[in-house]
This record gives sequence, structure tokens and C-alpha cells, in this order.
Amino acid sequence: HNQDNQDVISANEWLTKLYHHLLRHSKDGKEAYQYLINRGFTEESINTFQLGFAPNSKDFTAQFLEKKGFHLQQMVKAGLLSAKEDQGVTDRFRGRVMFPIRNHLGKTIAFGGRALNGQEPKYLNSPESDLFRKGTMLYNFDLARPHIRREQEVVLFEGYVDVISAYNAGIQNGVATLGTSITEAQAKLLRRYVDQVTICYDGDEAGIQASFKAAKLLKQVGCMVKVSHLTNGLDPDEFIQTYGAERFKNEIIKASDTYTSFMMRYIKKDYNLKLEGDRIQYVEKVLDEIALIEKPIEREHYLKELSNEFNLSMDTLTLEIEARLQKLG
Ligand code: GTP
Ligand code: MN
Ligand code: MN
Ligand code: MN
Ligand code: MN
Repeated sequence: HNQDNQDVISANEWLTKLYHHLLRHSKDGKEAYQYLINRGFTEESINTFQLGFAPNSKDFTAQFLEKKGFHLQQMVKAGLLSAKEDQGVTDRFRGRVMFPIRNHLGKTIAFGGRALNGQEPKYLNSPESDLFRKGTMLYNFDLARPHIRREQEVVLFEGYVDVISAYNAGIQNGVATLGTSITEAQAKLLRRYVDQVTICYDGDEAGIQASFKAAKLLKQVGCMVKVSHLTNGLDPDEFIQTYGAERFKNEIIKASDTYTSFMMRYIKKDYNLKLEGDRIQYVEKVLDEIALIEKPIEREHYLKELSNEFNLSMDTLTLEIEARLQKLG
């Protein structure tokens, strides 16, 4: 098994170099290179992240791997090639921009391949295996780790493009969950390295819901959580391309909401605050969250906010909190 994994890593590493070379220096790679440049990728980031291009060929990669002496059935299992009865072993990634996915040691263990011209699926990823378990790893953790240490903070994104775009904008402590919502294993991995997590998922409905789930889970494992507030459905990369790095850093990352502010805003969407019944239910829900805050000063801050917004006395709200704390034991 171990030898199998070594072979798959070796093949992934060879292809990382080959695809990167093709992107930079081949005629076929020009369109993909231009695509990346048009999207605002810098040359430096293309090199740092070893972005590449898999040619639109039936068997270019298959022939390369065969010549290198790899066992083709093993390469099929690793998701680098596909096998169809009538065509034999052929390339799986065709005409795609390739994002190498590295393990914590910096070795490529999988690829994400992005379509260039709107083909489906938009992203084709290596399949899950012993070697590549999406739910236990974080994209870019190897490069981000020293920055996470230094800044005592990590920024969590949805996708590779956001990580790279943020890197171009000067944010180097970014990692991504590869689209899937964060798992307990990923949350615990982050917790081992850092207290403070800023969630910076896409500003669309899916991203906001995923932020909610991630915030809860990260809080549960003991992280201090902040959540950025991207509007109009923009994702971090789109924001950076539209408004620039400085505004991204100041208005999105630095201005992230605290966990409680985010919760209050998130829960609010479910209620029509013009209705008295909804108002009461909303306040009750928010009080449940505030009761969980450990720092008295922080707790009072949010109680004051509620008190002002709903014209309730601090005495009443404090009693409500005490009742909840007794229930919690
Ligand atoms: P761009 O469209 O290139 O800007 O990518 P994005 O990062 O904005 O993509 P999106 O927000 O749609 O998805 C975030 C992450 O989810 C990606 O980095 C992928 O890991 C994953 N993802 C998105 N679409 C697909 C898909 O069609 N198939 C698979 N397997 N994964 C996807
Ligand atoms: Mn290079
Ligand atoms: Mn998304
Ligand atoms: Mn996105
Ligand atoms: Mn995007």
C-alpha cells in the first residue's frame, strides 16, 4: 500500500512539472496561460502554485506515464487516467487548467482541473483515495503554515482560486476546504495550529450557509471565529479583481464580523421583525447565543445592542441570560 502511494505521488509530481511546463512554454498551453493572466493571476503565483495545463488529447498523459514506467491500471485508480472498454486507457484531464493539490509536505497528491470554456463539470478533481481524503486536508496548508504561525490567524476560503487570489493580494495565511463544507477533522487540524480563524467563504447563499456551519464547528473545537461579509454574491477572488487588494484587506478581512454579530445577522433572515411574535422569537434565539459567550464584557456588548434595537431594558435581558445559564448548569 505504501509503495502504491509513493508511486501515485511520484506520478502526480511528474505531471505537476509537465503540466506547468506546458502551460508556460507550449503552443497548446497559450490559451490556458492567457486565461489565467486575464483572470488576474500573476506570473509569480502561477509559479508558486505550480499551475499547469493538461492538453486536450486522448492519450498525451497516458503515453507520458507509460514511458516513465508507471503501471497504467494504478494511474486509472489514482484518477489520472480513465479506462473505457472500447478505448483502452486514456487521459482523464483534457484541456484543463491544472491546480496541483499538495499535502502538508508540499507533494502533489491530487489535481483540480478547471474547464477553460464553460464545459461541465467546471472542476474535475482527482477521486478520493487513501492518499487523497478531501475531508482531512486543507488546500495550501503547506505554504500557509509559517504565515499562520506568525500571524496567529488563518483565513479559510472555499476554493483554490480564492486562496491564490488572496495570496496575490498579500494574504498568505489562507487555506481552502475545496468546496465541501468543513469537516471535524479539518477543524481540529486548524485548532492545533491557531486560535483565530477568519471564515471568508463566497458571498452567495451557499457560501453563507456553509459559513454558518463552519463557524459553529470551529467554535465547538475551541477556535475564536470571525466571519467576513461579502455582499452581492461575490466571492473573495471576484471582490479582489473588482475592488483591489487594499479594499479586500481593509473592508473584508479586517472588518470581519465577530461570531456573535454574524450569528445575529444570520438568524435574522428567518424572521420578519415587523411582526411582534417574530421579534420575540428572534430575541429569544439571540439570547441563546449570547448566553454562550464567556467574557462578561463581550456579553454585555451584545446585550446592549439588543436592548437598543428592541427597546428592552438591560435588567430584563440580564434576567433572561441568568435563566439560560442556570439551565446550562
Ligand atoms: P472559479 O469559478 O474558477 O472562480 O472557482 P471558484 O473557486 O469560485 O469555484 P466555486 O465557488 O464554484 O467552488 C469552490 C470550490 O468548490 C472549488 O475550488 C472546487 O474545489 C469545488 N467545486 C466547484 N465546482 C465544482 C465542480 O463542478 N466539481 C467539483 N468536483 N468540485 C467543484
Ligand atoms: Mn516554473
Ligand atoms: Mn462557491
Ligand atoms: Mn467561488
Ligand atoms: Mn471564483
